[in-house]
Amino acid sequence: MSILLTGGAGYIGSIVASILKEEGEDVIILDNLSRSKKECLPSGIKFYEGDIDDVSLLEKIYVEEKIDAIMHFAAFIEVGESVLEPYKYYENNFSKTIKFFNFFINKGMDKIIFSSTAAVYGEPQYIPIDEDHIKNPTNPYGMSKLFVERFLESVERASGVHHVALRYFNASGAYGNYGENHDPETHLIPIILEVALGIRDKIFINGDDYNTTDGTCIRDYIHVYDIAKAHLLAYRYLSNNSGSLKVNLGSGEGYSILDIIESCRKITGAIIPVEVRERREGDPSTLIASSKIAEDVLGWKREYQSVDSIIESAWKFHKAKFENSK
Ligand SMILES: NC(=O)c1ccc[n+]([C@@H]2O[C@H](COP(=O)([O-])OP(=O)(O)OC[C@H]3O[C@@H](n4cnc5c(N)ncnc54)[C@H](O)[C@@H]3O)[C@@H](O)[C@H]2O)c1
Repeated sequence: MSILLTGGAGYIGSIVASILKEEGEDVIILDNLSRSKKECLPSGIKFYEGDIDDVSLLEKIYVEEKIDAIMHFAAFIEVGESVLEPYKYYENNFSKTIKFFNFFINKGMDKIIFSSTAAVYGEPQYIPIDEDHIKNPTNPYGMSKLFVERFLESVERASGVHHVALRYFNASGAYGNYGENHDPETHLIPIILEVALGIRDKIFINGDDYNTTDGTCIRDYIHVYDIAKAHLLAYRYLSNNSGSLKVNLGSGEGYSILDIIESCRKITGAIIPVEVRERREGDPSTLIASSKIAEDVLGWKREYQSVDSIIESAWKFHKAKFENSK
């Protein structure tokens, strides 16, 4: 039996697929390469190129493979873009996703692991944010993910198909040859490292007047390897239990943008010039997770305990990528 992993040419999906394979799981990837490149696919894993809403392709996958579970990473992920082009996000992340799930649910597949996000919570009412925290997304990206969670709850009531929605906070770091490689890149750590490498002149900070210790946004960074391990645990949970879970994946520690820049300066030895500009619409000031359910129910333990160790792994990846591109 195989796990069908969508978005497996992307940053997190490619690393999770590699780790699942190392752990002896049978994985198949489906990706339309709209936000990634073929070169980013993990080696030795069967790949179907196409869209999650291409029913004839799904039919082919169903006939050729024995799909036991779905890990659904495929999505658009840019908060700013979602504010400017909401239709694109509701269509890709919600409409196509429920069509895709529905196809396999109708074929009898009964385990779904869904890549959700801290963005479902919106502006926090308390910190750390637990899974019961009110869901009030401040942008269409977060809302599109929340809609999918609601759909999965309805499907569970209607047909008993269980799911684990993993709400990642800021996924970061690299695993061997696989690392963050978005195009365009909007995530903080890779952008800062591109400044350190001289690919960009400076890092822009979107607002320094938030109600935080230094005025810049505070986020919770979690290594992509630890995210991958949580997927394996979620798959085992669904194989051995009948029930669904919503699970935060974070470190429980918050770092401001200035903290991350300082850590990157320390690790890279580069100066890293900074320019402050206006706030970006849809950014909550502080997001820090409580990951108690991941630890207590899934038995998840983080391997990467410090933000420096996360940045060091990302730095190794970005330096090597830069050297290879010369
Ligand atoms: N990166 C983060 O910090 C973060 C945080 C929270 C949640 N997430 C979630 O994790 C998942 C993966 O994020 P990522 O950073 O790896 O993103 P990514 O952009 O690197 O990867 C997404 C992949 O999905 C593919 N894709 C998109 N739409 C598709 C479609 N309709 N059909 C087939 N393939 C499609 C893209 O080509 C790409 O390879 C996303 O669902 C995202 O919302 C990411």
